[in-house]
Amino acid sequence: MISKDINLAVQHLNKNGIIGFPTETVYGLAGNAYETSAIHKIFEVKKRPTFNPLIVHIKGIEDLTQVAQDIPPIAYELANEFWPGPLTLILKKQPHIPDLVTANQDTVAVRIPNHSIALELLNKLNYPLVAPSANPFTSISPTSAKHVEEYFSTQIDMVLDGGICTAGIESTIVGFNNNKVVLYRLGAIPVEAIEKITGTLVVPNKKESKPITPGMFLKHYAPKTDFILTRNVKEEMDWYSDKKIGLLLFNRHEANLDTKYQRLLSEEGDLEIAASKLYDVLHQLDKLNLDVIIAERFPEYGLGNSINDRLERAAKKENNITNDLTTENGF
Ligand code: TXA
Ligand code: MG
Repeated sequence: MISKDINLAVQHLNKNGIIGFPTETVYGLAGNAYETSAIHKIFEVKKRPTFNPLIVHIKGIEDLTQVAQDIPPIAYELANEFWPGPLTLILKKQPHIPDLVTANQDTVAVRIPNHSIALELLNKLNYPLVAPSANPFTSISPTSAKHVEEYFSTQIDMVLDGGICTAGIESTIVGFNNNKVVLYRLGAIPVEAIEKITGTLVVPNKKESKPITPGMFLKHYAPKTDFILTRNVKEEMDWYSDKKIGLLLFNRHEANLDTKYQRLLSEEGDLEIAASKLYDVLHQLDKLNLDVIIAERFPEYGLGNSINDRLERAAKKENNITNDLTTENGF
């Protein structure tokens, strides 16, 4: 059930229920971060392996020490600059954070969402909310209440409607290791903006098996339709000329295909607008009964890198596990 009733959401959460939860990035599947029964439900409904940890959402920076400890000054600098907002910090956890939230690691992922309804809800609770994106494991992330309802209608208590997500892709994730700031996931805040504060970000050590990072799942954010990412859309269209093709493009249509099978992410050529529309357009194309979706590779700067990361994962055939963020992201 989709509803704007925040008090109803509070009631469900207080009874250890789980709800669709609006944020500025994507909708989350939220439950009480301190209640393992709620957290178990989230993993079950999402069909997510329990070795993949969750993000804890807090209402204000004053709550940070309730979930994390030994917080480095650079983490506070980043939090002051980007919170509330789409930056997730990986910090040393407080002992009372359930192991299920952190996949038995000694770190916890935290952020403050920049969304008025999410903040109003968090302010009515006396606990933080864990919320992975509200999509079945490896599927396209949801950017509207309707997307969440389509995935989970009967399995969750309600979807709190907060409109369309404005950023449209997940938060950028960074952690801290020996005075270095480590990039775990590209996302809604461009790397360049973070590096103004931190200097050059490092990517996780390839040989490291822990922590478990989002880069470990190659196939992710994926439509059901075959999906190809290319620098040369025309060439791929020739290759698939006998197939029913759909196109996902940045700012210009292709001449040789009916425009009803084409989706532009931003006619203005604006990467922020493009990111905000990415998942909705993937959902739309996936419903057109196409044989193949061909996506154009985006410019390799700012949010273009974050969009390419998601398109690369959508294009993966198998759900291999690797922690090789470097080769996957091309930097
Ligand atoms: O924008 C977002 O971050 C959204 C909204 C709902 O806040 N949430 C989201 O959650 O994208 P999820 O679960 O789909 O992705 C969070 C990622 C996971 O892939 C997980 O691997 C990583 O965060 N993560 C969580 N805790 C971690 C930790 N302690 N160390 C490394 N990575 C961690
Ligand atoms: Mg996700």
